[in-house]
Amino acid sequence: MAEQLTLSASTKKAERYEALLPQIESLVSGEPDVMANLSNIAAALKQTFNFLWVGFYLVKDAIPGGPPSEVVRRAGPQELVLGPFQGPIACTRIGLGKGVCGTSWKEKRTIIVPNVDEFPGHIACNSDSKSEIVLPAFKNDQVFLVLDVDSDRLNDFHEIDELYLNQIMRQIEKII
Ligand code: SME
Repeated sequence: MAEQLTLSASTKKAERYEALLPQIESLVSGEPDVMANLSNIAAALKQTFNFLWVGFYLVKDAIPGGPPSEVVRRAGPQELVLGPFQGPIACTRIGLGKGVCGTSWKEKRTIIVPNVDEFPGHIACNSDSKSEIVLPAFKNDQVFLVLDVDSDRLNDFHEIDELYLNQIMRQIEKII
């Protein structure tokens, strides 16, 4: 019974992603502005799944001297800077290797965190966040941005999310 319920929940999720992908394609087609497109992609994901927080952090040059944030102080010449998002206010800057986003950037890979309390160094922008997935998008083989999706439920992200969100990342790579 439990297996059936899990299967039906994930099928529903897959159907929603399947419906979302062409919508994202048409949302961004003909619009050359990256920020406008990322904004609509964040809104479309939030609207479809009602995740707690959906947004982008973009790799940018660090402010010389650096802002007085421990998260950023050791960031080096570049850091992740908050981009278009939907949800509660969030940390603006994240250093390389810091938190889930900074680790995804550093290791150039998708990270699924079933329980954020068990991820060493997780940056708690919002105490309601319980699980998350972070995926990188690449330009010229370098991470250009990461997509961060947070849920207020434990263990809310699985292979199905990685599969479809990766397709969205590949769509994004075409427009950055
Ligand atoms: N969870 C992230 C920080 C960003 S906020 O959750 C929006 C992390 O640990 O990288």
